[in-house]
Amino acid sequence: RFNDITMAPPDPILGVSEAFKADDHEMKLNLGVGAYRTEDLQPYVLNVVKKAENLMLEREITKRNWVSAAFAAALIERYFPGSKVLISSPTWGNHKNIFNDAGVPWSEYRYYDPKTVGLDFDGMIADIKAAPEGTFVLLHGCAHNPTGIDPTPEQWERIADVIQEKSHIPFFDVAYQGFASGSLDKDASSVRLFAARGMELLIAQSYSKNLGLYAERIGAINVVCSTSEVAKGKEQYHGSSVPEELCAEKEFVAKHGSTCLVKPVSLQVKSQLKRIARPMYSNPPIHGARIVANVVGNSDLFNEWKEEMELMAGRIMSVRKKLYDSLSAKDNSGKDWSFILKQIGMFSFTGLNKAQTENMTSKWHVYMTKDGRISLAGLSSAKCEYLADAIIDSFHN
Ligand code: LMR
Repeated sequence: RFNDITMAPPDPILGVSEAFKADDHEMKLNLGVGAYRTEDLQPYVLNVVKKAENLMLEREITKRNWVSAAFAAALIERYFPGSKVLISSPTWGNHKNIFNDAGVPWSEYRYYDPKTVGLDFDGMIADIKAAPEGTFVLLHGCAHNPTGIDPTPEQWERIADVIQEKSHIPFFDVAYQGFASGSLDKDASSVRLFAARGMELLIAQSYSKNLGLYAERIGAINVVCSTSEVAKGKEQYHGSSVPEELCAEKEFVAKHGSTCLVKPVSLQVKSQLKRIARPMYSNPPIHGARIVANVVGNSDLFNEWKEEMELMAGRIMSVRKKLYDSLSAKDNSGKDWSFILKQIGMFSFTGLNKAQTENMTSKWHVYMTKDGRISLAGLSSAKCEYLADAIIDSFHN
């Protein structure tokens, strides 16, 4: 009976927001969830979103989108049986749930080196190399969640080399495009580097953060096929239109190529994605998709989005700097806080352990995830000094 269902544990990220809401201390800070907030710590509705919505009132368009990492996981489970996904250690708290729920086996590759508070690049390369050929390698396109540590452009080249040598399939999760550098283009360079090599890849893209559309669940799963010929499809000789016995005929194959054996891949993939979506949620809600389509499809709005993106990323960079300055000025233990400046995007991986994060919350009313991650998007300039006090106290006591 329903009575027998036990209580689920709170989500390691979203549960932090629930605890924050229940606290009424005046200095409380929610640095748990990676969601952009203004200097007044309010959600931000982008001007381009308001304009896009106005445009939508003026003229109706229909566009559909596909959502997103969970979807891609279902595709792997169904069409790449036995394949494994390699995820970074650490990674976004929900990746493991997504693959577990889809029944896709996963293991971790080394990523974060606590000694240098930087990237364990050699460990990462060694683990990707050691994985069986054809493994899906989950990569964060930019602004790695939760560490805020990205590979350099040279390191990305090397990662692509190894993935190519091993015939692995790169699977990009792009949730923070724009928040690493402030530029949407620059933050796409890792994905573009792989695509330029003609590699097949999966890209799960989210617009929650960079368009502030959190509640719309708006994202896309992009499946990049190896050649444009394959993507477009060669001829219509596929599926039920070609009698099976003809496919095996040498003459037929010589005349039509192997089109009846090698079907146009992207059409196949698309058809299967549709099939996966149908029992899950049938059709995606359209409102958020239309907003995004209006922004990216209109050059004025697109340029304005780039400016607003710079503004949001700039605010986070400035509180990052202010937090670093406050920590350096207040802490006389000699600890080097420069890792905070080296990390990028919304997050800083502070190195605070579980007990110390508990001190942050119980004593200082600062809400954060237990892995030591803080979302700088939830910090205002006015509260940097307070946060520095809380961090120093938690580190040294
Ligand atoms: C986060 O990591 O905080 C965000 O991606 C939000 C979420 O849903 O976990």
